[in-house]
Amino acid sequence: MSETFEMKPEYKDKPIRSYVIRGGRMTDGQKNAFDHAWEIYGLSLFGGMFDQQQVFGRQDAPLVVEVGFGMGDSLLEMAQAQPEIDFVGIEVHPPGVGRLINNAAKASITNLRVYMADAVDVLEDCFADESISRFQLYFPDPWHKKKHNKRRIVNPEFMQLIRRKLALNGVSHMATDWEPYADHMMEVMSTAEGFTNQQEEYCFSPCPDYRPLTKFEKRGERLGHGVWDLLFSRNT
Ligand SMILES: C[S@@+](CC[C@H](N)C(=O)[O-])C[C@H]1O[C@@H](n2cnc3c(N)ncnc32)[C@H](O)[C@@H]1O
Repeated sequence: MSETFEMKPEYKDKPIRSYVIRGGRMTDGQKNAFDHAWEIYGLSLFGGMFDQQQVFGRQDAPLVVEVGFGMGDSLLEMAQAQPEIDFVGIEVHPPGVGRLINNAAKASITNLRVYMADAVDVLEDCFADESISRFQLYFPDPWHKKKHNKRRIVNPEFMQLIRRKLALNGVSHMATDWEPYADHMMEVMSTAEGFTNQQEEYCFSPCPDYRPLTKFEKRGERLGHGVWDLLFSRNT
């Protein structure tokens, strides 16, 4: 599939990205969603700064931003379960975006919007500093091979971008099912300036009630596979 998501022109030549554009055909429902639901749920990288009052009609609600929502089922479930919170998802995979906005429209969800663009661009260009209450990153691509580790989205530079965008005492919540990546995340977060672990140092957190378990995760649980959650608060 060609690069149909929004990308900054100068970013096209950047060699290291945290994703590959996967092929994968869109279902008719996902394709149609771009005709009928994108105008409700879609936000543009080139649309200027995100304005919560303008987008959601309120600015006192907590703002949660999730990067890499995949097919979007758990993000939709969270938005449905917590109407008092505003959710913004960022994803580059068009079928996943199509599925999420299609299902959001069917369920008449009003507290959710999406960007179909690179998260680094969106966070840098569209979100004011200190504007996000919680950052969510669930099961990011682990980039298992050592030579690919540099593609991991969790790295010191990215986490300082997140720190800037989080409000004071705002929360970074990540989860992974790949132990070496969990250890990597823990190392990055524990040595990052401006964050405090909500548990003891170097300890993982229990999964909070608001994060729904994915089908894949439930299967993994039955098979005895681990999942690691990390919750850190921005302290400075
Ligand atoms: C392994 S999938 C996990 C999806 C989902 N969170 C889940 O738990 O099923 C990682 C997702 O992150 C997306 N992604 C990776 N880097 C991204 C970036 N820089 N900006 C936006 N999305 C990104 C990929 O397209 C992919 O859909």
